[in-house]
Amino acid sequence: MIEVRDLQKNFGAQRVLDGISFQIESGESVAIIGRSGCGKSVLIKHLIGLMKPDTGDVLIDGESIVPMDERQLLRVRQKFGMVFQGAALFDSMTVKENVAFALRRNSKMTEAEISKRVARALEVVDLPGTENKNPAELSGGMRKRVGLARAIVYEPQILLYDEPTTGLDPIVSDSIDQLIIHVRDELKVTSVVVTHDMRSARRVGNHVIMLHQGKIQANCSPEQLFNSTDPIVRQFVDGIADPKENLINQPDYPTAFFRHPKE
Ligand SMILES: Nc1ncnc2c1ncn2[C@@H]1O[C@H](COP(=O)(O)OP(=O)(O)O)[C@@H](O)[C@H]1O
Ligand SMILES: [Mg+2]
Repeated sequence: MIEVRDLQKNFGAQRVLDGISFQIESGESVAIIGRSGCGKSVLIKHLIGLMKPDTGDVLIDGESIVPMDERQLLRVRQKFGMVFQGAALFDSMTVKENVAFALRRNSKMTEAEISKRVARALEVVDLPGTENKNPAELSGGMRKRVGLARAIVYEPQILLYDEPTTGLDPIVSDSIDQLIIHVRDELKVTSVVVTHDMRSARRVGNHVIMLHQGKIQANCSPEQLFNSTDPIVRQFVDGIADPKENLINQPDYPTAFFRHPKE
């Protein structure tokens, strides 16, 4: 479903991706891990055409997206739902309005269809019947759930999460991880979860890809990763303290990410 071939990306003199290749099959659940600043966000931006590689290719369902223009990319991006840390809810709107926002802007759905889609998305994230609440009334974990409902209301085939648990306390993080697993099983979506949290990667990934210095250091099951004797993998898995890990490095994704090609 997703194929990345020998991807290279430089920013000036800095080589961020140095020949990355992997495949993600339909229905898989993949964790992409690596230290802060190692290029995880840059990599997933390439999967949806928000960044273009210097060389290499990205294929989505067999179709190369690298040469596509914005209009063609919008069509491909409709396959994706995206959940990222900075995704704030609009506090002036109800939960329903937040979740329905993109549906209303981008489709010709009837009000009844929209209500049905929103109700279903809220059920999947275990917040049934909260349509008329204000985001300000919700806890941090619940707000995250609404953010996820907003990503799945489109019924995407692939869900991308960029650091969904960064900055959350361990209990809320656990519940978000459980939710990621639940959503994957419920909606049969392919999930790609970017994280620098090893615990989270182990819980949500059937398969783990570790980036290090622009290359893939490991591409294996979580168990293989935990049993690895590779010193670089071990250092990461054993969580040797690195003060840089505490710097939350979040890219700013465009908020109007999903625009309809007809717009
Ligand atoms: N638009 C950009 N312009 C220049 N440098 C960038 C840009 N986006 C990311 N970088 C750099 O690329 C590196 C990888 O960043 P990123 O993918 O955000 O790391 P992370 O693994 O923490 O998600 C960092 O050194 C970052 O400063
Ligand atoms: Mg990042």
